[in-house]
Amino acid sequence: MAPVWVVPGALTVVLLLLGGCYASSEGSWCYDALQCGPDTWSSLGHCGGKRQSPINIIAKEVKYNPKLGAVTLTGYGDSKKLREIKNTGKTVDIELANGLQLTGHGLPATYTAKAFHFHWGDGPSKPGSEHYINGERYSMELHIVHTKNNMNVSDAVKDPQGIAVLAFFVEAYEKAKGKTAEAWESFTKNLEKVAEKGEVSDLDSSISLLDLLGSTDLTRYYRYPGSLTTPGCEEVVLWTVFADPILVPDEVVHAFPYALHTTESSNGPHIENNFRPLQKIGDRKVESSAALKEDGRSAASIVSQPVEFLLFIFVATLASFLPV
Ligand SMILES: *[C@@H]1O[C@H](CO)[C@@H](O)[C@H](O)[C@H]1NC(C)=O
Ligand SMILES: [Zn+2]
Repeated sequence: MAPVWVVPGALTVVLLLLGGCYASSEGSWCYDALQCGPDTWSSLGHCGGKRQSPINIIAKEVKYNPKLGAVTLTGYGDSKKLREIKNTGKTVDIELANGLQLTGHGLPATYTAKAFHFHWGDGPSKPGSEHYINGERYSMELHIVHTKNNMNVSDAVKDPQGIAVLAFFVEAYEKAKGKTAEAWESFTKNLEKVAEKGEVSDLDSSISLLDLLGSTDLTRYYRYPGSLTTPGCEEVVLWTVFADPILVPDEVVHAFPYALHTTESSNGPHIENNFRPLQKIGDRKVESSAALKEDGRSAASIVSQPVEFLLFIFVATLASFLPV
């Protein structure tokens, strides 16, 4: 009889081989299983690279950039631009009609919004944003994906600045009310029409992206170079991560994992916890916009302020005359 340790050993080898097979073909990745989860992605595309997303943004370590003002969004208030919604088995993807344009300091061109999708956990008590701020995460994260100069996505992933993603945190808030809350309630009614993987539906609502963004302050954000957060994790994304969450009713956050399924059957597993784990920042610098100066105050940003700088010189000069 073989020694007992041979059995788990052989099993491990089989699992590793299986994992290898799955990991070698695109489209077979997943969020939660051993053989296809994020630990296996490093062999897919660029997922093992050094410019990966998401990251934990630590406010006191960011570099304040006074030139980063509000981003300019053109056409986002148009309620006819949300074309169709699709269950991809990993998220819901909403295709946008042409004409939504993004410009702003630090973005080397005009970027055109192509689609948006979400990442979530499992309801209000189990948050699932991809980015963290100071080690904290939010209920959900909305990603609006744009390409440079209206390129198609397959061309954009070949350009190191080919894609700009606007990332908004979405937070469950019991008391969320008003126009923004209503827009999210109206939007989430569409989820049940695409319960199964592969289902596509027209969006029947008259809401615009601006309705969903509500009063989010477009001057308060972080900027850094990163990647797509799903395989092949192409390192082509200029990220703009807004600091202030959009507050939505609890039911909205419940609706995503509740309504959507990972397979072509509504008996299949629910889509939940569809976020990639944190990646290393490495040598990268995260910048903060002008309006976030007070949040991310560092020694360098204090000295850059003229009045404070003069005061600093004055005190320093005084000090140099004092006997020690
Ligand atoms: C993307 O655009 C390029 C150039 O315009 C074109 O050659 C290519 O076929 C397009 N790819 C897709 C998938 O549409
Ligand atoms: Zn995403």
